[in-house]
Amino acid sequence: MASLKGRDILSLKDYSQDELYQLLAKAMELKRQLRNGLPHRYLEGKTVAMIFHKPSSRTRVSFEVAASHLGLRSIFLKSDEIQLGVREPIKDIGRVLAGYVDAIVIRTFAQGDVEELAKYADVPVINALTDEYHPMQSLADLITILEKKDRLAGLKLAYIGDGNNVVHSLMVVAGKLGINMAVASPEGYEPNPEVVEFAKSLIRNINHKITVTNDPFEAAKGADVIYTDVWASMGQEEEHEERLKVFRPYQVNRKLMNAAKPAAVFMHCLPAHRGEEVTDEVMESKHSLVFQQSENRLHTAKAALVSLIR
Ligand code: CP
Ligand code: NVA
Repeated sequence: MASLKGRDILSLKDYSQDELYQLLAKAMELKRQLRNGLPHRYLEGKTVAMIFHKPSSRTRVSFEVAASHLGLRSIFLKSDEIQLGVREPIKDIGRVLAGYVDAIVIRTFAQGDVEELAKYADVPVINALTDEYHPMQSLADLITILEKKDRLAGLKLAYIGDGNNVVHSLMVVAGKLGINMAVASPEGYEPNPEVVEFAKSLIRNINHKITVTNDPFEAAKGADVIYTDVWASMGQEEEHEERLKVFRPYQVNRKLMNAAKPAAVFMHCLPAHRGEEVTDEVMESKHSLVFQQSENRLHTAKAALVSLIR
């Protein structure tokens, strides 16, 4: 198995199917080690910098706890401490931080900023969410589906809602791993066509389908997984009221779940807005995997740190 040491996780577009499975297997191994009380302080003496320009509960806490379990020291840098390109250019920040730390985890707005940082920082850079992608969420989602369904290829994942960072990352991994994806978004809120085309370009057989529609019931039909996310992402707060009206027919409720397979599961990256993109009933139903997903953020954060840090 080729080593992933020194690699970045920016969008996962550059990861092969084998490399993705390698990360998933590592996450599941680390999860077992934790469950069995086995120490796994593989990164003792190393340091990770965490730059967050948007709020976070799951990502921040899972990375902090992951670091702690791995014996890795973490340094948390808030918006006012590192402003990309304000006090100094990103290319300087990348080289300065790489002189001190062994990896950088970053949540910010523009994907281009994370890519620029990665270009100049000679240590792994992990994208902890941008406006365009949320790759670490997808890794946790994949192990959650694997745990529940025992496979990925050939399943149908229906994503209902905004064509945002979360669905972009899901489309990338669905393309790589042979997951059928049906996305339903309101007109004008579909995923970025370039990401859709990228995902479709990965299709290798006629049974593998990646589709985008405006009809939530068409997307949900026969699905193994129904996935949704907030209608207004961080940074779009002023559009919230308008989006509530546009997205109303895209709520994941019992009626929509009934269009999927009887054993279909419900997934959401969280935070969730009950009564908006999902009903409380679906969130709390036995089909809901949302807290298994959030727990799996810990194990995938660890897998990324252990796999990438030299
Ligand atoms: N799902 C997720 O990334 O949550 P946070 O925004 O709380 O980190
Ligand atoms: N699409 C959401 C995901 C939050 C984890 C956002 O960007 O706010």
